[in-house]
Amino acid sequence: MGEFDAAVVTISDTGWAGEREDVSGPLLADLLMEAGARTVVCELVPDEREQISGTLTRLCEETKVDLIITTGGTGLAPRDVTPEATLAVIDRQAPGFVELIRHRSAKITPMAALSRAVSGIRARTLIINFPGSPKACREAFAIIKPSLPHALEIIKGEAQDNSH
Ligand code: MTE
Repeated sequence: MGEFDAAVVTISDTGWAGEREDVSGPLLADLLMEAGARTVVCELVPDEREQISGTLTRLCEETKVDLIITTGGTGLAPRDVTPEATLAVIDRQAPGFVELIRHRSAKITPMAALSRAVSGIRARTLIINFPGSPKACREAFAIIKPSLPHALEIIKGEAQDNSH
């Protein structure tokens, strides 16, 4: 995979409150580094729409990472608002990533249907929602990994075409 800068955003009330150790965030950071990421920034936010949207916007506009993977808050519980917070900040949906994750994950567990994850692009950053469990993160990363290099290349290519 070519050079890219990534961010992992863990979305968890219990993680934020210090009641549960964030396992999925560091796991995804390791997987991204193994996949060739130059840098990985890790953030932890509670299941609050404004805080999730604010963090995603800052990572796209200021840190300017090429890829953000969020983990958690995609389910059906009342406080699961990651998809809405993501939809609020993306310019365009890129649904293929989450379609592939749900489709392939359904072969592993029927609970795949419970994730409302979305994926899309803001400015030059690809954002993909993953479920919260480390197991799901490992599975989802393996599913999208082969398509990432070309996806990020195209998004970066656009940046060259439209340089301002
Ligand atoms: N996808 C994969 N590949 N593996 C899993 O174990 N767990 C499911 C689903 N997607 C799972 C998965 C479960 S149990 C839930 S509740 C939803 O993701 C949403 O998870 P979240 O609320 O932590 O985001």
